[in-house]
Amino acid sequence: MNNFDQPIDRRNTDSIRWNRYGKDIIPLWVADMDFRSPPCVVEALHKRVEHGVYGYTHEPNDLKEKLVDYIYQQFNWKINKDWIVFIPSVVSGLYSAASNFVKNDETILVPRPVYHHLRWAPQKALRDFFEIDLICENNRIYLNESSLLSYKKKNVKLLMFCNPHNPGGTVYSKKELEGIASFCVKNKILICSDEIHAGMVLGDKKHIPIASISSEISKQTITLMSLNKTFNFPGLGTAWAISENKDLRESISKGIGTIIPDTQIFGYITTLAALDKGEPWRKDLLDYLDKNRKLVQEKIIPIKDLKLYTTEASYLAWISYEKLKNLDLCELFLQYGVAVQPGSMFNKEKHFRLNFATQSNILNEALNRMAKAIKIEKNKTPQ
Ligand SMILES: Cc1ncc(COP(=O)(O)O)c(C=O)c1O
Repeated sequence: MNNFDQPIDRRNTDSIRWNRYGKDIIPLWVADMDFRSPPCVVEALHKRVEHGVYGYTHEPNDLKEKLVDYIYQQFNWKINKDWIVFIPSVVSGLYSAASNFVKNDETILVPRPVYHHLRWAPQKALRDFFEIDLICENNRIYLNESSLLSYKKKNVKLLMFCNPHNPGGTVYSKKELEGIASFCVKNKILICSDEIHAGMVLGDKKHIPIASISSEISKQTITLMSLNKTFNFPGLGTAWAISENKDLRESISKGIGTIIPDTQIFGYITTLAALDKGEPWRKDLLDYLDKNRKLVQEKIIPIKDLKLYTTEASYLAWISYEKLKNLDLCELFLQYGVAVQPGSMFNKEKHFRLNFATQSNILNEALNRMAKAIKIEKNKTPQ
């Protein structure tokens, strides 16, 4: 059994998450985990480091075959190894899709709220984009066919899609995906589907890649995946794009080896090791995250001024404080010793995202501090 309760000091590792704030702040913002990667990953790195020569490296020969098996076993999606293109990170794939799939006079649909790079990619590529507000039903946020119909732009060419969704971790059902897929087929809209959180679905839900929904949608989708998040090596991980459409593969590959660096040696090593032997660790991780998810529910739901959205995957709880009109909760939490990610990052004010991938005792302390902050400060500032 892997011990995720083991305390780990990350302050002396140039960690973005742990170094931004002072030592009295518990940092629950950037999306990485406070857990060591699986022993098989650490061992594989040690072995390669020991060799001492780190020259230009091509992908390991059997990596694509292993990914084909993995994707079939995990998501019941049959792909061909020629459909895979390695990229150094999912984010580079998002930017390539926005720049290369869409012309100057075409528009990109972007959900709101969403992981900021899905919105920044069209912005930085100087492409027009239109934000579609996610629907909220029984505290669960998601995109559906009728919300998609709300777009008011002509020449829509691409949907930036995120499943499981960040923030919040919504896992789309088959029916929901069918609705989105048929809408995109009908309107000839390509999909760039960021599925980086697919390996961390909690409870009974299952991840379904949108490209696996029908042969039509498969032809107009590029799927971005990686093990960076699931096995906690985003500092050196690798990623890949999958599409059966050769034009989309060629288009996403533009710039690789020049403006986009090739995937690095240690990215391949970690990915291969996780594929080969990481599954038992992943299962333990999911149990631990599920326990932390319950702790977040236990502590947040009783605070009537907050609304916790349903978390079905990953470790990024999404919380509204719209009822606290006169408080800037993210600033306030800092004063009480907790850093969360402000909702403005995802283009949604009066919300925050809480990373619960830390040791349960640290999470518990952070949640207590947050509850205390609201209790004390609310009485001082009339709402
Ligand atoms: C939805 C989503 N996509 C992409 C990334 C980053 O991926 P990468 O590190 O491979 O660029 C993140 C990181 O938080 C994410 O949540």
